[in-house]
Amino acid sequence: MSKLSLAVDIAGLKLRNPVMNAAGVLGMTPLLLKHVYDSGAGAVITKSLGPHPRAGHPNPTLVRVEGGALNAMGLPNPGAEYFVDEIKELKKMGVPVIASFFGGSVQEFVDVAYILTKAGADALELNASCPNVAEEMGMLAADASSLEKVTVAVKDETSLPVFVKLSPNVTNIKIIAKAAEWGGADAITAVNTLKAMSIDINFKRPILANTTGGMSGPAVKPVALRCVWEVAQAVDIPVIGSGGVTTGGDAIEFMLAGASAVEVGTAVMTHGVEVYGQINDGIREYLKENGFSSVKEVVGLAQDS
Ligand code: DHB
Repeated sequence: MSKLSLAVDIAGLKLRNPVMNAAGVLGMTPLLLKHVYDSGAGAVITKSLGPHPRAGHPNPTLVRVEGGALNAMGLPNPGAEYFVDEIKELKKMGVPVIASFFGGSVQEFVDVAYILTKAGADALELNASCPNVAEEMGMLAADASSLEKVTVAVKDETSLPVFVKLSPNVTNIKIIAKAAEWGGADAITAVNTLKAMSIDINFKRPILANTTGGMSGPAVKPVALRCVWEVAQAVDIPVIGSGGVTTGGDAIEFMLAGASAVEVGTAVMTHGVEVYGQINDGIREYLKENGFSSVKEVVGLAQDS
């Protein structure tokens, strides 16, 4: 039997396979992230870390909806400094770590990037797109020139690959992706959650304490796929797909659209942490059935037809 390779190289970051957890999902402690890695992920992504500890929004912060879930956690995290030892611990266990981070100003993004680089992360994911916090922090990804500026500043501070995670809640994602690339981004993650809401008809109130939240899960997959398709056309750097991936077939769809790897979040709620291994099994099956020897051969194939 021919040997199938799932290994990928994203801007110099070499991974055993192209499947990762999405930031915020099981990313709070090193042991949970180690569990994600042991369950088959190629790398792990931390919870988004900021310059100071943040409590996040009051409950309810999560609600299941048809086709997925809404969440408005409000970027709760212990602060980047606190996470330094957790990253070191993961590195000691041999786990490739991508540190997701955010700030409330260009300087804060730079400060956090410095701390996480020193901690020994393998790459950084700049969260420019949380839908649930004050505009200046969350929706950086709606403004091309601000995003370019912050990307330039972060790239000046770190020698690590920087992935910029974009929001689908914009008119033209190609322009935003291009701005991140001009700023020096090494890859684009497409996409974060879709701004959404849900109302309790008996209480006659929004269910989430924050009123709105970010929608994720199978129902957002076609939107995310369209975003990956457009971003892949706009930039010459790798794209990482995120949004509703549950099966190996879903991952392959994103790869055919131009993604070099995928992030999986909400599927953990429905399928458990084993989903990472299951997605890799599905990818392997597809490669075998379609006569590919490496997952890299699939990337962007649908764009060529
Ligand atoms: C939160 C952050 C995100 O980036 C997202 O997509 C959804 C929720 C949050 O912490 O509220």
